[in-house]
Amino acid sequence: MKFRSNIKENNVTDEKIFINRRRILKGLGLFTASSVASGIAISRAQSWFEQQPKMPSNLHAPTSLKFFNSTIYSPNLELTPENKVTGYNNFYEFGWDKADPARLSQNFKSDPWKVEIDGEINQAMTLDLDDIFNKFDLEERIYRFRCVEAWSMVIPWIGFPLSALLKMVDPTNNAKYVAFQTLYDPEQFPNQGKKFSGNFSFPYIEGLRIDEAMHPLTFVAVGLYGNKLLPQNGAPIRLVVPWKYGFKSIKSIVNIRLTENEPPTTWNISAPNEYGFYANVNPNVSHPRWSQASERIIGSEGLFGAKRQDTLLFNGYPEVAELYKNMNLHKYY
Ligand code: MTE
Repeated sequence: MKFRSNIKENNVTDEKIFINRRRILKGLGLFTASSVASGIAISRAQSWFEQQPKMPSNLHAPTSLKFFNSTIYSPNLELTPENKVTGYNNFYEFGWDKADPARLSQNFKSDPWKVEIDGEINQAMTLDLDDIFNKFDLEERIYRFRCVEAWSMVIPWIGFPLSALLKMVDPTNNAKYVAFQTLYDPEQFPNQGKKFSGNFSFPYIEGLRIDEAMHPLTFVAVGLYGNKLLPQNGAPIRLVVPWKYGFKSIKSIVNIRLTENEPPTTWNISAPNEYGFYANVNPNVSHPRWSQASERIIGSEGLFGAKRQDTLLFNGYPEVAELYKNMNLHKYY
């Protein structure tokens, strides 16, 4: 039987934003029981927010990329509008609100950049930006993207299969997993300098089993919608694993390590009963606090809210099912 929650799916995000707002108000000294009761705190805070200068949506000029169109991965799906892909983000290093990454990443420097690849490999390698953009044939792939918060997008990514990179470094026989790490730089990422309750910490880390990492669908993105990635989407280089919940698709990667043992991952450390290592999109395995049976389509918002659609097993990529053929997907969520 499915777990029923009193939090509605489409309230998940809103609730997080609400909690965050409350934290901000508290920080400003505007959130007290009596002042809230009188409504004063809310209106003062609102006017404080309104007085803040409106930031231009993005100071990073679009830089176009040369790429070929994938013949296999170009499904006839309606794309999510570009301004939603670059304006509704999860990148907690910048902040908890969906608008924070675009707003707070305007001075983010992704040049120069280095990605170190090490661990269980025969050819240790460090990629710089020139390598990242020129060593691989860049292709555009249109993928469904499904967040664990039960919203979804369709994004035209530009990049290359992770397998192309892994073959170059020649994994040893001991390489069973691939671990990824995001840049740690509290001067650029305002949230990295802060302490959080529970076990949530930075740098953000993620991981895949080696056969997942080598699967042809597993993609390293360096661009979207024809241009280089903007900071809010994980510039200059990020992972995209379209059959898994979005939190596996780690952004702004600086280290890729091949390991013998399953690597720890940020959300699993933070809430192991809610976020597993596998995180395969699955309508039949609920999050403990909400159902995953359907999803909100970002960009379809109208007068009566956003449209919803049924969630597909493996996010509509049945070709990965063989990776999990002997696994209990309820246990390995
Ligand atoms: N990578 C890092 N380093 N930090 C993050 O907070 N958020 C993850 C993932 N990668 C995250 C991250 C989550 S929860 C999602 S849903 C996707 O990035 C969102 O990607 P997008 O903002 O490009 O849509």
